[in-house]
Amino acid sequence: MAKRKKRNWAAPDVGPSLPPVTPALQSPRRRVPTGIRRPSYALTGEPGPSRSALVRTPEEIVAMRRAGRVAAEVLLEAGSMVGVGVTSDEVDRVVHEATVEKGGYPSPLNYRGYPKSVCTSVNEVICHGIPDSRPLADGDIVNIDVTVYIDGVHGDTSATFLIGDVDPASVRLVVETLASLELGIAACRPGGPVSDIGRAIEGHANKHHLGVVREFIGHGVGIDFHSNLQVPHYFDRHHSEALEIGTSFTIEPMLTLGSPDVAMWDDGWTAVTVDGCRTAQFEHTLLMGEQGAEKITVTGSGECAHQTVLETVA
Ligand code: MF3
Ligand code: CO
Ligand code: CO
Repeated sequence: MAKRKKRNWAAPDVGPSLPPVTPALQSPRRRVPTGIRRPSYALTGEPGPSRSALVRTPEEIVAMRRAGRVAAEVLLEAGSMVGVGVTSDEVDRVVHEATVEKGGYPSPLNYRGYPKSVCTSVNEVICHGIPDSRPLADGDIVNIDVTVYIDGVHGDTSATFLIGDVDPASVRLVVETLASLELGIAACRPGGPVSDIGRAIEGHANKHHLGVVREFIGHGVGIDFHSNLQVPHYFDRHHSEALEIGTSFTIEPMLTLGSPDVAMWDDGWTAVTVDGCRTAQFEHTLLMGEQGAEKITVTGSGECAHQTVLETVA
């Protein structure tokens, strides 16, 4: 185990100190129409062991492109309806309805018992925030993480959106987290080691005095929501597995303004920063090709919600 450098996280500007996010009311469970193909865990909550290959067949690649496109479309729709006063439960309703309307199953629903159709992670919530009755407030940042199951495969993508007038430290966090994802993607070489990804992301985070969350990582995605491939967002030379052509996986860095250490809420899902400082995340599903890693969570015209976030910053 490599030793982790001790750092002074109270360093430059760690963002606003506001009341912490607290749990609010969850709405009743939403239904998926019969006729929509369900993943293995939809009934039981248990995905079982991952047995699928890491490399996709040509037929599976066609399906992955569709799942990726639908996930990107749903994330764009979710991003266009967030704003001051909108509750995360309303985001969940829009994601749920848009997904089933396109013929997909919202992958989070009942995955290991998760109660909702999307993850909504506000401010110091790192990931897996459960949608509830809390209205988004002026100055919040919210990650919306959409996964769609369609044609037998999952497409997984997320973006962090700015709500109203956001402080400069949080804007910087959001912009540099997205930049770190892009650098992680650019670091992927066919046959190259997975560890190149974490090296690129961690290098960027260090340069900008941002923390890298270690407890949650990118993953193989396809037939299974989470397959056996692990994609850390920090450098670990032990992750020398090769990114073979045809591998489908996510990169989804979570960076922090303060310490990247994690605490869990009693709900068993919501992960927050221990120090209460803010955190942001962006995610794409990727397909390893000869020319590099291809983003497949984009629309038919190559767009995604990541660009719309950057437009709100300028
Ligand atoms: N979409 C998340 C990821 O990027 C996983 C969410 S699992 C859930 O891996 F159960 F919380 F939905
Ligand atoms: Co993911
Ligand atoms: Co995700």
